Amino acid sequence: MTQDEAKAAVARRAVEFVEDGMRVGLGTGTTATMFIRALAERKPKIRCVASSDASFNLGAELGLDMMTLNELPEIDVYIDGADEVGPGLALIKGGGGALLREKIVASAAKRFVVVVDSSKVVECLGKFPLPIEVIKMALPLVLPKLEALGLEPKQRRAKSGDGPYLTDEGNFIVDCFVGKIADPVMVAAEVRAIVGVVEHGLFLGMAQVALVAGEDGVTEWLG
Ligand code: A5P
Repeated sequence: MTQDEAKAAVARRAVEFVEDGMRVGLGTGTTATMFIRALAERKPKIRCVASSDASFNLGAELGLDMMTLNELPEIDVYIDGADEVGPGLALIKGGGGALLREKIVASAAKRFVVVVDSSKVVECLGKFPLPIEVIKMALPLVLPKLEALGLEPKQRRAKSGDGPYLTDEGNFIVDCFVGKIADPVMVAAEVRAIVGVVEHGLFLGMAQVALVAGEDGVTEWLG
């Protein structure tokens, strides 16, 4: 099974977590995009919010009833991908830059189902660079503080190579090359304490279910 086939398999399985009448959070990234497409094909009677402009626009284009969090502040289920899934369903997210809105939508959801291929499952978080969203003017203050924590921060550039990457909220992203995050709770607290940091990509105690696609098909893990 290729990685794309695995992503497609979890995306299809995740559709089973959605029932008519539900309020559904749509995630961001390639796996979440496959989920949004698979969900829309069923023409469900649901209302949705999205964790990025890209997913909002895709949902609207495919005929889903898209709303804002203002209109739909509580969500039954949020389905999204992740960059790493560690023990206890601790996650690193934000490879696609949407971590702030993803964490907001996840926190509004009764149930967060994370959908990944098995290459994302790790014994210790941190091989994938930890994304941190930073207020633009605070960057010169935040970078040395992240360095002092040993997090090896590097500002993300736009994919076009044209200037810095900007999030949907107009903030910068700093990717931290940690290698191994032995104590994610401590790192989350240290990073959160830096003035100018808006959010970090550690999602701890947020996901209740992981759908993991590997050679043996899709397996369901509970957090
Ligand atoms: C978006 O900011 C991310 O959190 C994604 O959910 C994560 O990067 C997984 O993306 P893929 O499904 O594209 O691998």
